[in-house]
Amino acid sequence: MDYTVSSKQPAQLKVDCLVVTLNKGADTLPAALPEETRALISDCVKDGDFKGSKHQTLLLHKPAGLAARRLLLVGTGSDAPLSVVAFLQLASAAAKGVAATGARSAAWLLGNIEVKDQDGSAVLREAARGVADAAYRYDSYRSEAGPAPSLKRFTFLSDVPAAQAKKAVAAGTAIAAGMALAKDLGNCPPNVCHPDYLVEQAKALAAAYPALKLKTISEKQAEKLGMGAFCSVARGSERDGQIMIFEYQGSKDDPVALVGKGITFDTGGISLKPGASMDEMKYDMCGAASVFGTVKAVCELGLPIHLVAVVVAAENMPDGRASRPGDIVRTLSGQTVEILNTDAEGRLVLCDALTYVQQKYQPSAVVDIATLTGACVVALGAHAQAVYANDAELAQALLVAGDECGDRGWPMPLWDDYQEQLDSPFADMANIGGPKAGSITAACFLSRFTRDVRWAHLDIAGTAWISGGKQKGATGRPVPMLTRYLMNLAGQ
Ligand code: BES
Ligand code: MN
Ligand code: ZN
Repeated sequence: MDYTVSSKQPAQLKVDCLVVTLNKGADTLPAALPEETRALISDCVKDGDFKGSKHQTLLLHKPAGLAARRLLLVGTGSDAPLSVVAFLQLASAAAKGVAATGARSAAWLLGNIEVKDQDGSAVLREAARGVADAAYRYDSYRSEAGPAPSLKRFTFLSDVPAAQAKKAVAAGTAIAAGMALAKDLGNCPPNVCHPDYLVEQAKALAAAYPALKLKTISEKQAEKLGMGAFCSVARGSERDGQIMIFEYQGSKDDPVALVGKGITFDTGGISLKPGASMDEMKYDMCGAASVFGTVKAVCELGLPIHLVAVVVAAENMPDGRASRPGDIVRTLSGQTVEILNTDAEGRLVLCDALTYVQQKYQPSAVVDIATLTGACVVALGAHAQAVYANDAELAQALLVAGDECGDRGWPMPLWDDYQEQLDSPFADMANIGGPKAGSITAACFLSRFTRDVRWAHLDIAGTAWISGGKQKGATGRPVPMLTRYLMNLAGQ
């Protein structure tokens, strides 16, 4: 698909479908439309065919005053400026409305839309992201793929100056491409998507972008390095664990590091999970998938930043060599951990990767991303990822980035008061902190491995995929938040 931007008058545009969004009541019509078209819309409103309610659509053929074949009206359902989240939902509704017409070319008038706290270029960027993201399909494993989409060209009508507008659309589509990669990896079945598969995907990504360097650490090498916690998880599977390290050096600064949890399937190990919905534990590598997606977006955008991105991959299985509750392992940091529950495996693989990235790369900041706890889903549901940090400025930067692109986070406490829940009578710490505040104690565990660096942890257990039902699937989050955070660092 070809995404472009134009500052032409909508009347002149020869497209198969022109999209115009209207607020609740549909009583203020865009001045950019010719008189005849406004009269046509007013008639539809007067006759009760269109009310501007949320995501209501009305398709008009050969609309008066327009060169376009069709006019698609879409309601915002609001009479105030939209939130970024509501705007993205509107973009998705508009894109789906257009797709349903079979149009080959479409344009969307953006001039009459107001998004809270966002300027024209941000609106354009998120419009492009929302429209591109709405085109995502995952049918690699269907015998019969759905009909090929007919839409070939999508034009955003905006009065943002041309150079800036082009950049905004490019950013939006780059982020959507990163999200699509994250979704593809997340949706991929766990018999295919195992640690070696992620290594293949990492090699493919590195091959696609010359600016990207890749290094891998096998389970055997990890053992030699002293990654006792990572290996204790990886050992429980026939498939070897793998660690991948991308380096993108777009500046001479100390790097920012991302570390993604890549448990390609989480059975719970010997502390086996119950059977219901266990299939969804294929998504336990969505932290890793978001690292892939963010790396892709950064490469597409050529951001002037130094980025180190780590994927720590293993399969959590109950094999003969799997950890038992009661086992004590030594982490790469030297600290020992009593494994009281083998289902708290994410923190075990992450802690060694966090230590490793600090030892090797001296990052200025580290952000880990993990589908870490069911407790996080209880606390925040599907709307916000939990944001933990040992540095207020870093937390704020991530929260602001999330707000700007509708991929929101919410701050959580890392108070010392919670730390004692991790006390163990036998080792430096236990890997679980009891039934209370499970997302917080998981973050507290990780904080013991990031004492000497600015660090943040995103618990994305609720946001990385949609559970159950027909809608089940990876969301591509938090690729937008992470990319936006890195773009802000780069001043873009
Ligand atoms: N991958 C899970 C977390 C998870 C659970 C994400 C449900 C999304 C939905 C993680 O490895 C896990 O099993 N965590 C345990 C921790 C517990 C044993 C302290 C959990 O949340 O139950
Ligand atoms: Mn688990
Ligand atoms: Zn897990």
